Amino acid sequence: MITEKKFGRTLDKQEVVLYSLKNENGMQADIMNYGAILVNLFVPNKAGEVADVVLGYDRVKDYFVNGSYFGATVGPVANRTEKGCFEIDETIYNLVINDNDNNLHTDATAGFHKVVWSAEKNEEGNEVVFSYRAKDGELGFPGNREFKVTYKLTSDNALEIHYYASTDKKTLVNPTNHSYFNLKGHDCEQTIEDEKLWLKASHYTKVRMGAIPTGEIAPVAGTPFDFTQMKTVSQDIGAENVQLALVKGYDHNFVIDDYEESKVQKIAEVVDEKAGRTMEVYSDLPGVQFYSGNNMVPEFGKEDAYYPVRGGLCLETQFFPNCANQDGFIKPVIGPEKPFASTTIYKFI
Ligand code: BGC
Repeated sequence: MITEKKFGRTLDKQEVVLYSLKNENGMQADIMNYGAILVNLFVPNKAGEVADVVLGYDRVKDYFVNGSYFGATVGPVANRTEKGCFEIDETIYNLVINDNDNNLHTDATAGFHKVVWSAEKNEEGNEVVFSYRAKDGELGFPGNREFKVTYKLTSDNALEIHYYASTDKKTLVNPTNHSYFNLKGHDCEQTIEDEKLWLKASHYTKVRMGAIPTGEIAPVAGTPFDFTQMKTVSQDIGAENVQLALVKGYDHNFVIDDYEESKVQKIAEVVDEKAGRTMEVYSDLPGVQFYSGNNMVPEFGKEDAYYPVRGGLCLETQFFPNCANQDGFIKPVIGPEKPFASTTIYKFI
């Protein structure tokens, strides 16, 4: 079932609407047309107790800042692009420099999470389709493009996110969702360090200063990055390790095993035994950024709940960071004959 309500206004007085997708098990996902942002995600636990498991804010105006990208649809290109530039067919395109000497998440003030999307409800599919048209040159990218992000809630407690992009000129895309999950509930006022994580990744991309990948695809075996056997986030996060030190914890791209274009597979699982909730993540992409919330600044979120550093974790499905510039990384360059389509699913058990 889909309901909608007025949620606020943008500074240029566009109306912001919050759409609620509900299912028969008491699960509910609330998404707004401002930024196609996931605002709330109510999930029952084993005992049937419902908690909102994503961090966020109560009011639209708090999302005008949203320095941590709570719930955000990020794009057109998520993560780092070295020196903020990339080349397609011998033309160099420049993005804003907003993270040391590099670009992070396209644009903190005008990216996907800061624009109003058109929304269309599909009652039958229990989904809302958000659309956004970007002009040639907007934020530095070539091509008149049409983006769609669909959120769908299924009867088996899966929140499916489908991304689609078409363009009239070759361009770069790499959207993701930046929700911060805490399976105890956003208002538990605890970190995610005792949650257990499994990743279908026997390799990860090492980084150097500025969190730009070095290009090396390193095995996780024998390192703190080995989540191939489920373990708590806390187990190795404090280990003496240069890669952890560089980004103050986990903030790395993991290389998904058995990746095949368009094959949706289970890539991650998060278990919170105390809370009685488990989240499975499915994706058809080659990478996932596991970010343990190290750069969060303590703040008050929804219902005045206190969000500490590491108060949520992100599993951002994507092509590898800086893929546009790194030899050996798949480049998500699309063209008029080659649109972009991708699926990510957050499913609760
Ligand atoms: C990045 C972090 C960053 C966070 C918020 C993540 O995707 O990897 O380094 O602090 O987003 O911008």
